Formats: sequence, structure tokens, C-alpha cells
Amino acid sequence: MATYDIGVIPGDGIGLEVTAEALKVLEAVAETESFGYARVDYPYSGEYYLKTKELVPSSVIDEWRTLDAVLLGAIGHPDVEPGLVERSVILGLRFGLDLYVNLRPIRLYSEHLCPLKGKTPADIDFVVVRENTEGMYSQIGGHLKKGTPDEVALVNGVYTWKGCERASRYAYELAVKRANARGPKVTLVDKANAIRPHDIWTRAFAHVGEEFPTVEQDHAYVDACCMWMIKNPEWFDVIVTTNLFGDIITDLGAMLQGGMGIAASGNIHPGRTSMFEPIHGSAPKHAGRNVACPLGAINAVAMMLDYLGETRAAQRIDDAVADLLRSGEVKSADARSGISTSDMGDRVVARLRN
Ligand code: IPM
Ligand code: MG
Repeated sequence: MATYDIGVIPGDGIGLEVTAEALKVLEAVAETESFGYARVDYPYSGEYYLKTKELVPSSVIDEWRTLDAVLLGAIGHPDVEPGLVERSVILGLRFGLDLYVNLRPIRLYSEHLCPLKGKTPADIDFVVVRENTEGMYSQIGGHLKKGTPDEVALVNGVYTWKGCERASRYAYELAVKRANARGPKVTLVDKANAIRPHDIWTRAFAHVGEEFPTVEQDHAYVDACCMWMIKNPEWFDVIVTTNLFGDIITDLGAMLQGGMGIAASGNIHPGRTSMFEPIHGSAPKHAGRNVACPLGAINAVAMMLDYLGETRAAQRIDDAVADLLRSGEVKSADARSGISTSDMGDRVVARLRN
């Protein structure tokens, strides 16, 4: 029997509540599948930092490399300098484990969840492959004469041939694997008109594309991409894009699916320890109130199991979530659904046990 070592970092705010539901679902699905798992808990969070002044030490990043996967809730605390703990934990995982793909499916489960008029589940079903270790997130930059009228702030956008190539290849392979009616098609999203160095993406994308003659190559500048995502989301199959643009367009994508409470992501380096998380943050205003929607975290468990090769277990969770959302029980996939965090988890578990 396969047994997986799963690192668990609930983090801050609603991260704790949604992770509890995600683990409940993992436990329920494991009951009737032939795999086992061992949980390794990690305390890193803004809350923990305030108490201990401790961020993630490099020895722990080494330890993470020995696990099969990591499940993360959310990081961010209102009393901690913005980004300090996020960079340590989230970017520590992404950069430290070289998780070069951030895979973000955008799929509408039920028409009533979509804010767009007249769009159905058949129209909204695409995947964003966000490059996850470079771009504007490189952390190369800084300030000069900070706090004076002469202050200069610089940040470098880093795009390597290797980074563009491997993200593009992942996107093409995914399009082939999805083999759906609108594809296989990959849309490169960049801003190579205003930011000319983005042309490294144009060339790497075309170069790798030669290996995939059956996949249609498409392109959109990021501003137009936002417009098409609202106007004609049915045109997209797989999108590949830079780290920052991927961050931005997937919040927009989450709304197309029904809200931040439902969107999940996988931070992946094929063949290595990868990390799975809902795309929402710690939402301090909802924390501790048992109102946050745990479906994003639950979907992250499905993505993790799929990554680990437990495809049937992953599919069962996906089916349970889809069934719940189509049942009419859930008015919205957010903090105003009227269904508590724990109740939402229970409803998924009930369907798994059914
Ligand atoms: C995300 C988040 C992170 C990001 C933050 C918390 C650093 O917004 O995963 O989308 O910018 O990547
Ligand atoms: Mg984001």
C-alpha cells in the first residue's frame, strides 16, 4: 500500500479552518482507498512569527524536500509587516523546492455561481499555468535613499530561457492531456508590446511549440486576456503566463468559477515534492467565525491526490464537490453562503461516504 508523507501548514486566519475541513475530506476518502498517509504538521504563520520571531529555517526547507507533498492553508497576519511571512513560507516553498508551475484550474461547476450573464459550465473550463519561480517575484531589487524625496525603488523582472521553456512545455503537455473540444490550444499571455524583454516568452513558447504540432498556439496581451476572460471565457483551454500576470488573472478566474472560496492551485515540479493550496488568503475579517468556504482547500486536496497518482480518490472528491454545488444547497461559494465552514466540509464528506 502506498503511504504518503504529507506536510501540513494551516497558517493564519481562515487557513486553519479550511485546512481542518480539507484534512477531514482527505481522511474520509482514504478510508475506502488503498493508500495511507502520515501527517507532518508545521506551525509557520504570521501568528507563530509574532510569538517566536521565527520564519522558516533552511533546514525545514530541506526537510520539506523529503516529503511527498505539502498542503498549505493561508499565510498573512494583519500585525506583521506585509509579505514577510508570505515570502518565507509560500515563496520559500515555491523557490526553495523549485516548484516552477503554479497550476490553477478555472472551472465553473454550476451556472448559478457565475457572475457572468448567460455563461454555463460548458463555457468556463480552462487552466492557467503560472510560471512560479521568476518574473517580478525574483526578489532582486531594493531601495536607494529610502524615506527621502530622492528615493528610488527598483525591482527586476527575471525571465530565463529555461524558465519560459519549462513552463511552456508543461502547458503544451497539459493541453494534449486535456484533449477537450476547445483544444488542444495554449494561449501565451504576456505584455511583449510594452515590456519588450517579454519577447523571450514569445520565442521560447514558439520554440517548444514545434514539439507539439497538434496544439494550436494562441497569444493575448494580459490586458486583452482580462477582457476575453469576461467576454469569451469559452475561448481558453490552457493559458501559460508570467508569475505576476498569473497571480492577477487567476483572482479574476476565481470569480468566474464562483468566488475565491472555491479556487485551488498546485505548486508543482513534476516528479518532486509539490505544494497544494487554495488561492485565497488568510481573510482576517472572516477568521475564527466558521464562515469561510473550504471548497478551495478541499479542491487542493483533490489536486494533491491527482498529482500523487491517486486519480480515483481525486475524482471522487471532485465529483462530491460538483454534486454539492449542483444540488442547489450552496447559494454562493464564499463567506455569505449561509453554510458554515465545518458544515460545508461535512456535506462533502457525506457525499464521499454515500
Ligand atoms: C497567491 C498569492 C501569493 C502570490 C501571495 C500571498 C504572496 O496571492 O498565491 O496567488 O502573490 O503569489
Ligand atoms: Mg494571488
